[in-house]
This record gives sequence, structure tokens and C-alpha cells, in this order.
Amino acid sequence: GSEALRGLLLSRIRDVPDYPKPGVLFKDITPLLADPEAFTALTDALAGLARERGATKVVGLEARGFILAAPVAVRAGIGFIPVRKAGKLPGATLSQAYELEYGSAEIEIHAEDLAPGDRVLVIDDVLATGGTAEASLRLIRRSGAQVAGVAVLMELGFLPGRTRLEAELGGAPLDVL
Ligand code: PRP
Repeated sequence: GSEALRGLLLSRIRDVPDYPKPGVLFKDITPLLADPEAFTALTDALAGLARERGATKVVGLEARGFILAAPVAVRAGIGFIPVRKAGKLPGATLSQAYELEYGSAEIEIHAEDLAPGDRVLVIDDVLATGGTAEASLRLIRRSGAQVAGVAVLMELGFLPGRTRLEAELGGAPLDVL
């Protein structure tokens, strides 16, 4: 993305120290969502990326990824598919467990939402350890669909998220706006 766009977006992200626990610097995107100019610029940039990557579907990662990805799907004229935390989807699901710093988590997708001809762009707000994005890429690959890429608003550079994603990306791009 352009420097002007990046400047606008970053100026609308609020750093909240010690949230949700001491030592963590939380990146709050609610000021960006509340600003129609910034939210529209972000949506347009991501929709442009979806077209460039030849995406046929957009996957949003619960919960903040939903907010960012849904308008992109509408703008790009392609389908939106949620990746949810385990136990929330009513249909037949594929599920993927992954390791957290302490413990583990599990995410799911509706298996019937993706087909082998699909190219999928994954959208989320933050890439931190990369665990959530990596597990979502596994779900997409297990469905038989192709990975068109991952796009995030921010990358926490002190965490090895990019490295963790490399294998599952299989050469597809990771875009940080
Ligand atoms: C945050 C963020 C990403 C993920 C990044 O979501 O929105 O989805 O963590 O972390 P990782 O790269 O270490 O996996 P969170 O789990 O807080 O869920 P929420 O959006 O539902 O609050």
C-alpha cells in the first residue's frame, strides 16, 4: 500500500498498554472502524489486493478479521467465509488445533464453503505469533482450495509470525498494509 494510506490507517490505531494483561501492548482498531474515510480506504485497498491475487473467496478470522473482511468481499464481489473458534459453526466443519504461548486453541470452517477451484485471501487485523493465520491456511489447504495470500493491517515484528506462516503460504504472498 501507499505511504499516505499507511499513515492514515496507523494514525487510527490506538495503542493500549497492559491490555488485556500486564506487558501486552494492545492494538485497538476501533478508532479506524469509526472513521468512514479510513475504513473505506482500508476496504478499497484490501479489495484491490483481492483482485490482484485473483481471489475467489475472502476468509475472515474471528472476531476482528470478520469486520475487516466482510466489506472487502462485498466490494470485490466475492464470497465471505468465516473461520470461527471451535463450536460456533452449525454445519459440517473442518477443524484445526494449534499451539498458543500457553496451551492450545482450535478453529473451524464450514467444509462446504470452499471447493478445489477456489483461491482464498485470508484477512485479519494483526499477525502476532502467526498461529491463528497458520491454522487457517491449513484449513484452506485441507478443503482442497488454493491459498491466494494473507493480508493483515499490522505485523508485530518482534514475534516470529512471518516465519511461522512461510511453509503454509507455499509461496503465496503475505501483505501488510
Ligand atoms: C487476535 C488477532 C488475531 C490473532 C493474532 O485475535 O485478532 O486473530 O489474535 O494472534 P496470533 O498471530 O498469535 O495467532 P484474538 O484471538 O484476540 O480473537 P478476537 O479477535 O476474537 O478477540
